[in-house]
Amino acid sequence: MKVQIHTLFEYLLETTEAAPEAIVGFSLSASPRLGDYLEDLNPDQSLDWNGRDFRGLPELRDHVLVQAGLAGISTPADVLITAGAAEANYLSIMQCLQPGERIVMETPGWPQADVLAKAKGAEIVKVARSEADGWRLPLDRLSAAVTPGTRMIFLTNPNNPTGDLMTAAEVAEVVAIADRAGAWLLVDEVYAGLEWDRPRAPSVAGLYARGITTGSVSKALGLQGLRTGWMICPDAGHMRDALILRENSSEIMNIMGEVIAEVALRPARYATALARAQQEGAANLAQMNAWLAAQDQLTWVPPKAGLIGLARLPDGVDSDAFARFLLAPPYRTFLLPGSAYDLPGHIRLGVGGGAAVRLQDGLDRLSQALHDWQPKRSS
Ligand SMILES: Cc1ncc(COP(=O)(O)O)c(C=O)c1O
Repeated sequence: MKVQIHTLFEYLLETTEAAPEAIVGFSLSASPRLGDYLEDLNPDQSLDWNGRDFRGLPELRDHVLVQAGLAGISTPADVLITAGAAEANYLSIMQCLQPGERIVMETPGWPQADVLAKAKGAEIVKVARSEADGWRLPLDRLSAAVTPGTRMIFLTNPNNPTGDLMTAAEVAEVVAIADRAGAWLLVDEVYAGLEWDRPRAPSVAGLYARGITTGSVSKALGLQGLRTGWMICPDAGHMRDALILRENSSEIMNIMGEVIAEVALRPARYATALARAQQEGAANLAQMNAWLAAQDQLTWVPPKAGLIGLARLPDGVDSDAFARFLLAPPYRTFLLPGSAYDLPGHIRLGVGGGAAVRLQDGLDRLSQALHDWQPKRSS
């Protein structure tokens, strides 16, 4: 079946030209500029492909293992550099899953797995995260959903959109659930590096023979436009399958993405950038928490990791209509409606984007819109 559009992407497409004056749902750290890297780039850098390895620049693959805490556990042969975590997820889902096979995923969660699994004609089983339990993934329900013969489990850790983060013990339990069924376990870690109340979770690629870890430089480092990410997996057959599909789509990585990501992930530079992103994220999150505490119409579970979380709207307020109301004058503020995640009573809030998104201004406008909305609709 043809790949169909998802509500989330449909909303982004429809609102691209809205030119909001503030954004309160930004999911990535402030983006660096090209000039920040010029000193470390070589003007004689060839713009041919890297010419060394179809899996990506070897030194970049080394850095990927170090930042994931997998140096000495996984090998560079287990790493494939991809066009973002999105391509890594795509290559894995399309190659691991066949029509009629079961894939188990979380809801709310990142829609890509659902869209691709539908196109593949797979059997999709969703396990609901529990808002009452801080959006935790109920592992007993996950276990019940993963029947013998289940082909794949797809999760995000940290979770998009709730910011929930599984502990090391929970990750180990998920691995045991996958192992019982012999299922592929893909854990998308695109938000890793920004943990607020506990350490980063271990990556499944280092724990399980069929574990697939995906990630990128998009979120914590704000380098989304580089389109550079990775897949880490100890299964040589899967790595080969992914390479084969990539050869028949984009063929190779874009060289500037690889070269700049290699600079960005050099351990000392990465540590500095991550510390800055953590500091800014924590400050903005404190600001968001204080603002939410003063709102009588919204409740939310603060993210345990990453820059986004979900807030619950008052009963009867539809998130899609409200997001469009907020985007229109006089508020001109962007956020993602929960309808993008099958949660029409929620909105996605975020604290990324740096000064450019005018967070406080956006929050003030959001308060005003909530205030203006109620009498308008009940009259
Ligand atoms: C959970 C998740 N996975 C993957 C992606 C895509 O990230 P990338 O830019 O690395 O392709 C996103 C982007 O928002 C995301 O939220």
